[in-house]
Amino acid sequence: MQLIHSITDLQDTLAQARNTGKTIGFVPTMGALHEGHASLVRQSYKENDITVVSIFLNPTQFNDPKDLQRYPRTLEADCQLLEQCGADIAFAPSVEEMYPEPDTRTFSYPPTDTVMEGARRPGHFNGVCQIVSKLFDAVQPDRAYFGEKDYQQIAVIRRMTAHLGLNIEIIPCPVVREDSGLAMSSRNTLLTPEEKAIAPNIYHILSQSKQLGKTVEETRQWVIDNINAIPGLEVEYYSIVDGDTLAEVQDWAQAPSIVGCITVYCGATPIRLIDHIRYR
Ligand code: PAF
Repeated sequence: MQLIHSITDLQDTLAQARNTGKTIGFVPTMGALHEGHASLVRQSYKENDITVVSIFLNPTQFNDPKDLQRYPRTLEADCQLLEQCGADIAFAPSVEEMYPEPDTRTFSYPPTDTVMEGARRPGHFNGVCQIVSKLFDAVQPDRAYFGEKDYQQIAVIRRMTAHLGLNIEIIPCPVVREDSGLAMSSRNTLLTPEEKAIAPNIYHILSQSKQLGKTVEETRQWVIDNINAIPGLEVEYYSIVDGDTLAEVQDWAQAPSIVGCITVYCGATPIRLIDHIRYR
């Protein structure tokens, strides 16, 4: 595996592959890689000739400077994991390389980027679009792989890709869970053992809510009440939405795909955990 830091070196290397007709799969990450990322890299490895993984902690998508500061940084371990999963190139640019000057572009895809995380983390999806569009430009992949854990992010990136007219297939990959049911996330390493013990309740309660036979609003409230009843967990929001547009639904028959998206504060720090469940 090659470790590349500059866009020019990356493009030179990829031009050789592209000229010989090779397909390029791309997995964008912010590092602190875990089994969830590994599953994306393995899927790209199976479906493409070359797999590029970017490792870049993108400052423009953090609306809370403390969140950026405490985000885990583990480049050496990340590269070891990527080698094992079959990645060909790890692209780890500096902030100056990606942002030689401030990026003033704005992206707007309502309601996809204005609800849920979009409403609570102003500028977050704009920062995601800024960096993903720059990375797409640098890598020019045939396919790009994103974890479904960040369900809303994939919906926003789909809109951006269509809006920019990019010929890139966006491939959503299933959430990878720890044995406990907790969705894998780089932020899980920040949880204390006590917090790690209560956090899986989020997924268990979401799963139980599929069997309730209640209305949408009753189900939403049931999930919130049951999670809030666990000391150390506090729901920030729980939205039951159309799985494509992310607009809230009032009725189970309202859309062909319905998903519940949740954000929960866990512990004293607190750590913000996100998850989702598919109802239909
Ligand atoms: O999902 C992430 O890790 C990030 O939002 C992404 C897509 C790598 C952009 O920085």
